[in-house]
Amino acid sequence: MDYRDIEPQRLKDWFKTFAENECKGVSPMYFALSNKISEDDELITLASYCKSRQPMPNLFLASVQYLLFKEPSSELAHYYPSIHSQYKEDPPFALFKEFCLKRRDQIIELEQSRLVQTNSLNRCAYLMPIFSSYSRGEEVILVDIGTSAGLTLNMDRYAYFYDDVHTFGRSDVKIQSEERGGKMPAFDQMVSFRSKLGIDQNPLDLSDQNNVDWLRALVWADRLPRHEKISAAISLAQKENLQFEKASTIPEFERIIESQDDDAPLLVFHTHVLYQFSKGERVEFTNMMERIGSHRDLLYLAAEHSSVLQNDHGMDGVLVESTEFKKGTKSIRLHAQTNGHANWIKWN
Ligand SMILES: C[S@@+](CC[C@H](N)C(=O)[O-])C[C@H]1O[C@@H](n2cnc3c(N)ncnc32)[C@H](O)[C@@H]1O
Repeated sequence: MDYRDIEPQRLKDWFKTFAENECKGVSPMYFALSNKISEDDELITLASYCKSRQPMPNLFLASVQYLLFKEPSSELAHYYPSIHSQYKEDPPFALFKEFCLKRRDQIIELEQSRLVQTNSLNRCAYLMPIFSSYSRGEEVILVDIGTSAGLTLNMDRYAYFYDDVHTFGRSDVKIQSEERGGKMPAFDQMVSFRSKLGIDQNPLDLSDQNNVDWLRALVWADRLPRHEKISAAISLAQKENLQFEKASTIPEFERIIESQDDDAPLLVFHTHVLYQFSKGERVEFTNMMERIGSHRDLLYLAAEHSSVLQNDHGMDGVLVESTEFKKGTKSIRLHAQTNGHANWIKWN
């Protein structure tokens, strides 16, 4: 299933909205390209081969960048800051289009086989304080659903900067976020983990260079600090022995969570995953967490757009919400508002 049955004008509008709502002020290069793609029938047709339920503009632009990583001497690659440090500004659209149309079959293959699995490291800027505060110095068991390559599982291995001030941790991987009010949860020491497990429908094994390239291709080409950060985090993860389980259904998640040891606090979380679930799956997911929490203490954290949470707290945007299950009772807490890549956090 892909987007070829969808009215082309709707796909054009999607690129236009993507440019306006996501790229504007963040990625001048993808803003300009997406606006031009939205007016080009041939490229819209090419993008329509993206697997359905995947964000089409992200998947299409990542497929192009992935191919450029494999062809760094191509003329277009010299306009990609992610590929050449001495890059040229503003890729001519005709050159971009020619590159894409000449590699039509390769692009379609990527659109049909790859997924949008962006690991966005700054999300650790809210995960780490919340989990540290909850754990109160005890080692905890961590389960991340929709983990991609598991880079957020390594939150205890990174250095944290808030408003450019180094706040805790020492590492080459620098998590940077702006605080826009409220108060960060208090804690004495950074959380430490008894075990870490990443679950995904397609865990990205970083010993395969194609997966490394794909993970990097998902980062927008002119977002250089994010490229530096993800490359450092990939190098670190490649030296670790992170544990993954391939799973995609509620019964599988439930079996895996239930099989975790019960002699240490359990943390289950997902960040920017539910938008890839159907509405029915989202309801089932909440029901599953309630079933588990009815007989087992745990903290369940969701960082998702309010439109895909069961409770939108009357807000529009990305919310960080936890549900603590303790002796069969549950308490829900809204911790923060943030944006997609956690460039800023407003603590609640
Ligand atoms: C946008 S990525 C987010 C990755 C990571 N959570 C982060 O914030 O850095 C969404 C991830 O959810 C995974 N995913 C989507 N639907 C899933 C499902 N039904 N079961 C397991 N994983 C799923 C995708 O494969 C992808 O790796």
